[in-house]
Amino acid sequence: MEQIKLFCPATIANLSCGFDVLGLCLDTIGDEMIVSKTANKGIRITKITGADLPLETINNVAGVAAMAMLDEIQPDFGIEIDIHKKIKAGSGIGSSAASAAGAVFGINELMGKPFSRKELVRFAMKGEALASGSEHADNVAPALVGGFTLVRGYDPLDIIKIDSPSELFATVIHPQIELKTSEMRAVLEPLVSLKSAIKQWGNLGGLIAGLYTSDYDLIHRSLHDEIVEPLRGKFIPKFELIKGIALKSGALGAGISGSGPSIYALSKGLETAEKVAFEINKAYLDTGIPFEIHVSKINSEGIKIIN
Ligand code: HSE
Repeated sequence: MEQIKLFCPATIANLSCGFDVLGLCLDTIGDEMIVSKTANKGIRITKITGADLPLETINNVAGVAAMAMLDEIQPDFGIEIDIHKKIKAGSGIGSSAASAAGAVFGINELMGKPFSRKELVRFAMKGEALASGSEHADNVAPALVGGFTLVRGYDPLDIIKIDSPSELFATVIHPQIELKTSEMRAVLEPLVSLKSAIKQWGNLGGLIAGLYTSDYDLIHRSLHDEIVEPLRGKFIPKFELIKGIALKSGALGAGISGSGPSIYALSKGLETAEKVAFEINKAYLDTGIPFEIHVSKINSEGIKIIN
């Protein structure tokens, strides 16, 4: 194989109670990438459409992730990458993760798959480090592996895939403002109280149990964030209003997607997810801020090869 074309999905990280450890893969929003083998060694980003991002390999998240991988395997060919961005940078739905994950996935396929999807996560994390200053895996892991992913540990990296209950759907509203992950990490407190931690790990355990047993009421009871949302919510215009409307419209839970400004809701059934989309659409029109809304099933597969 000389060239591969990919759908690189958007992702929702944190899911309220799982800051830096939990994420899910979306199905209806994603970038396209073309990764090609070339005779000239090295990595070149040859084209970027849909966003104003650096072409220099060392300044590009896809380039940096690809470099981390090639440093290890030293192939006797080079790589060219075309990136067609559909996920806006700073949207909170894993824009940099999609590019980083796509690059390493594409190279792996062209090399005859020496690595599993989970093993590719550590290379893609280098792209996240460039984008946000932190090597978090809660977007790149679901983009690569699909479904929900839990980062059980970072050192050593231990990624657990959790299949989604079949009736779970996501609604995402993306107000068209940019919040940089690095800045949204800077607003966090370095220490949390034991009281908050107890609530958070109770909810995270509850959410994982709810996903495994398709217990939608347990998922509903667990989708809360005691630690991060109170510090970041104020940077997202009308966050509390939209969250409230999503819950009133029947969502199981709602919160900040990744580091924002996108707001996510999870619902049981497509009909409810669409009702949530309809109601938050109506409410957000009043703000005068441009926005996009997406409804998606959970993508169980992760990155997909397309023709
Ligand atoms: N867990 C990361 C954060 C995700 O919230 O900073 C960034 O998309």
